[in-house]
Amino acid sequence: MESVVEYWIAGRAATSTATFEVRNPYDSSMVATACYATADDVEQAVAAADACRKDMAALPAHARAAALDHVSRRLAERGEEIAELIVAENGKPITWARAEVNRSVSTFRWAAEEARRFSGELQRLDTEPGPSRLALLRRAPRGPVLGIAPFNFPLNLVAHKVAPALAAGAPIVLKPAPKTPLSALLLGELLAETDLPAGAWSVLPTTDEQAADLVADPRLPVVSFTGSGPVGWRILDSVPRKHVTLELGGDAAVVVCPDYADEADLEHAAQRIATFAMYQAGQSCVSVQRVYAHREVYDQLAARVVKAVESLGTGDPRDESTMVGPLIEPGAADRVEEWVHEAIAAGAELLTGGDRDGNSCAPTVLAGVPQQARISHEEVFGPVVLLEEVEETQQAFDRVNESRYGLQAGVFTHDLQTAFHASATLDVGGVIVGDVPSYRADQMPYGGVKESGVGREGVRSAMHDLTEERVTVLTGIEM
Ligand code: SIN
Repeated sequence: MESVVEYWIAGRAATSTATFEVRNPYDSSMVATACYATADDVEQAVAAADACRKDMAALPAHARAAALDHVSRRLAERGEEIAELIVAENGKPITWARAEVNRSVSTFRWAAEEARRFSGELQRLDTEPGPSRLALLRRAPRGPVLGIAPFNFPLNLVAHKVAPALAAGAPIVLKPAPKTPLSALLLGELLAETDLPAGAWSVLPTTDEQAADLVADPRLPVVSFTGSGPVGWRILDSVPRKHVTLELGGDAAVVVCPDYADEADLEHAAQRIATFAMYQAGQSCVSVQRVYAHREVYDQLAARVVKAVESLGTGDPRDESTMVGPLIEPGAADRVEEWVHEAIAAGAELLTGGDRDGNSCAPTVLAGVPQQARISHEEVFGPVVLLEEVEETQQAFDRVNESRYGLQAGVFTHDLQTAFHASATLDVGGVIVGDVPSYRADQMPYGGVKESGVGREGVRSAMHDLTEERVTVLTGIEM
């Protein structure tokens, strides 16, 4: 039999005969053969997670931290190999793949650090006359986690499921994206080098039917999903009694304020917009899709954005100079192409791009996109950015809030009042002042409002999300 990439059941490697191919999205070349877990293996993974839930919750912080530190170190040691694997399975340019590996190193390192300090709180209860009491607030894992990861960050968004769960003392069964399972399966190799209890983790590709069974399985009371809106909301609706966290999409917006008017400011804003509208071919939930620029800066900004976009290297993601690679599959490129053409037919102006070659869509800038065009209000998840001139900054903020999504927004301003106004009034999970919405540090809270999801990731926030408060009241003690 041809060699297949092993999956991981309660810490042990396994294979099955239900194989599938992983192909490079750039040139369709064969990358590897992976396999779906057998029904028996899926059952073993869930049973083992359930069986070790108490042991995991009781595992000392030093043991959790040691395992997480080990994974962080090994990711760094094998960094280039893993970056090349990400390029091969996802089509992400090597520069961005290396960045993703570095972020995963940091995600696991942060998780080790948070595991060491995750201690709970004390609360005084002597606020009314009576016996002196003190509450001890501790956090206990809600139970084993089903993590479902997307294709667009095949390593780091897996890390954001696995690392906080282990840090908080919760077993996890991780289902990687079927298009990009290899980085997650390699992560399994590193987890297998640790002393974590068997059952603490499994990494298994599944069919859609198996995934639905896992979602419904009462032994996995927590579901942490990152991916598309329709799938995410369906999961949440199907298991209303479970704790479900959804990190879904968005059509992230940037506001460029009139005080961002000198050459250096405009160049900075344009470079950041161009880079982060197009990075990973726009396949990030926080890539820049909409730009609202004040009339005093619009013309200059638009010219600079177009120039910056045209200077981005495209083509083979293995090439060091490539900044924009292919989309994940032909259907994704079809969507981008169709939506761009629809916008142009409806009256949008094409400032650059618009072409397509295989799975690659040219970095595209549109202006004056009419509201009826889908690209003006649906998540394009492709290398396209929309520019719009506004009369006033408040009009830009209103336009940001018209979206049904609300993940992150970027506001280019130096004005403190404007920054605080944005922070107070934009309906998003995060406002990035002086930069694009695509900024994410792995330790910070990350997640959306409205149709962008529920709950927060980011190591400490995810640990909170995966645990619940337990209160112990101590009576008659000296304060
Ligand atoms: C996402 O696509 O939501 C992840 C963005 C990131 O981690 O940078």
